Formats: sequence, C-alpha cells, structure tokens
Amino acid sequence: MISIEEAVKLLSEDGIVAIPTETVYGLGAIATSQKAIAKVYKAKNRPEDNPLICHFYDIEQIREYVPKIHEYVEVLIDEFTPGPISFLLDLPSDSPLKAATSGMDSIICRIPQHDTTLELLEELNRPIAAPSANTSGKISGTSPEMVEKDLGSKIDGIVDGGECLIGLESTIIDCRKAESIKILRPGYIGKEELKEVFEEHGLKIKVSSPTKIKKKKKKQSPRIKLTTPGEKYTHYAPDKPVYLSENWRTIAWSKEKFAVLATDEIIEEINEEMYLTGRAIHLIKLGSRKRIDLIAKNLYKNLSKTNDMDIDRSYLINESWEKSSLAEAIENRLEKATK
Ligand code: TXA
Ligand code: MG
Repeated sequence: MISIEEAVKLLSEDGIVAIPTETVYGLGAIATSQKAIAKVYKAKNRPEDNPLICHFYDIEQIREYVPKIHEYVEVLIDEFTPGPISFLLDLPSDSPLKAATSGMDSIICRIPQHDTTLELLEELNRPIAAPSANTSGKISGTSPEMVEKDLGSKIDGIVDGGECLIGLESTIIDCRKAESIKILRPGYIGKEELKEVFEEHGLKIKVSSPTKIKKKKKKQSPRIKLTTPGEKYTHYAPDKPVYLSENWRTIAWSKEKFAVLATDEIIEEINEEMYLTGRAIHLIKLGSRKRIDLIAKNLYKNLSKTNDMDIDRSYLINESWEKSSLAEAIENRLEKATK
C-alpha cells in the first residue's frame, strides 16, 4: 500500500496505481500519457479498442478538456458529483485525452466521491484515466485486498481507501445529445433520480433506460447461455462458471462440487430443509433482501469467493428484486456474471 504522495510521484512518472472510489477501485494512469495508458491495458489484459473512463477533480477541470458541455450536463454534475455517475461527452479531435479513449471522439468523464482520490486528483492537477481495477473480464475489485490478489504483481502500487461504499460501477449516461440522455450502464443513480433533477430545473430532457439484457427462457440447465447484446465487452465473471437458477429446489444436489449464492433469506430456507441430508454444501450469503445496499456493496467480494473454493461451478439463486435503480444495477451485474 502506498501513500497519496507516493501515488502522485508514481503517476507523474507514468506509473500505474490502483485508487479507491465509492464504486469500485480504479487502475489509474495519467490520462494524457500514452506510455502510462499502455501499461494499464497490459496489466489488465484489456482489448486496446476498449476506451477508459477519465476521472477529474471538478467541473472546471473537465471544462479544460471538454469545452462544449450542454447546460443540462452542468446541472447533473452539480447535483450528483462528486458521485457515482459518469458522463459520455464529445471530445475535441485534437484532445490530449485521446490517449485514454482509444482514439475515439468521445470521452466518459467522472468526478468520484472519495476523499483520498479527490486529494490525489487535486495534488496531481491532471485527470486520471482509470478502468476498474481487475483483469479484463473478471470481477471488479472493491477492496485493496481484492486488487492486490488480482493485479498486485502487475502494478506500481495500491492506495488504500478501504472497502468501496457502493460496490458496483458508476451509472454511465450518454450526454452528447442536446435534448435527450441515455443510460448506458445502470448504477446507483437511476432514471427516476435523473428525471427528478430535470423536472426541478424545468429542463425538458428525455431520459431513456439501458438496453435490457434479454434472457433466454430459462430452464434449469447449465448449458443455457445468456446473451448480452448492446455492449462489446460485457462478461465480468468469477473464474468458475456461475449459473443463474430460479429455484434452489430444482438444482440437482448430486455429485458435482458446487456452491450456492443466495440472499440470507433463501440460504436460511436451504439450511432448514437440507439439514437432515448432512451434505456439506458451500453456501454463500449475499446479504438480506431487505438491505440491497449491502448486497451491492459485497456482491463482487462474494462472487470472488467461489474462485478459491474446491468446486466446479456455482448456482446463483435469482430473486424478484425490489424496483429501484440499485436493484436494477445488481440484476445487470448478475446477468453479466452468470451463464
Ligand atoms: O465506477 C466506475 O465507473 C469505475 C471507477 C473506477 O470509476 N470505472 C469503470 O471503468 O467501471 P471500466 O473501464 O471498467 O468501465 C467503463 C466502461 C467500459 O465498458 C468502456 O467500454 C466504456 O465504459 N467506455 C469508456 N469510454 C467510452 C467511450 N468514450 N465511449 C463508449 N464507451 C466507453
Ligand atoms: Mg470494468
């Protein structure tokens, strides 16, 4: 673990450093440094055409790089940041931030809510490009320990900011149009909150939801694959396959070695009914369905527990989650993590 001062020094010398945010840890590099950005792609084994989110200290710093921002975006930035939301904006074609965007003419900007990282951004006085701190395709790190385990040997340091408060990646909204926005990735901040702010400010901006991941009609079969159209790189999964199951009673509790992940309420049911069988079953509690904030916070940690277990597969028992932006974000991540 390194201090903020050490992180500033390492980043200034084109190093790559894991930084805490309220959503997940990011793997940070100076956003204008081609050399540092290349190291991020290498450490994560990330496809080179997958652009990086850039983190800024405040709106003034965003303006230095993105001169044209619609008025409604300023309102959203004012209302929600520092916070778990990211804005897709147009980027001038000669921008030095193109190092971070795979050469694209757009950029995703975020002002994270974490004192340590805000202090780091202020000291550094330059934006930090930071994708989630995980090997590409794997689960995002939500604690320094998770990042250390996944990437420790490949990066220059980790700034310890404790466990991430939210635990799921930021909401991403496409703000390039003048009269409408589109949620590209669901997160803690949802459609209703966005609409409310527009109403309060008398802004007539249409808000559209993320394209839903369509599930094939599910049977209790591990062979069924969920398709995830809309995004090119979408699978964030544990090392061993996880299958989404609608009902734990239909799992074949037979010879295979597996784990079951479910809410505390369902695990309790399983414990009560399976008690007499005396079988050793790996049960992973996701938290109470009454506290989905805690389910979100611990979700990636719980999913990653299956990596170290002596099992071949896991089953994640689906719930009828409550209707909220966070529940929608949880569902979205579960669909991505499961087969
Ligand atoms: O909460 C978060 O947003 C975290 C923390 C570290 O800030 N970051 C994060 O970054 O989740 P990453 O790279 O894991 O996810 C960013 C997503 C990727 O799916 C990437 O393809 C997309 O945003 N993205 C980034 N820049 C883009 C751009 N200019 N146009 C379209 N998609 C973009
Ligand atoms: Mg990621």
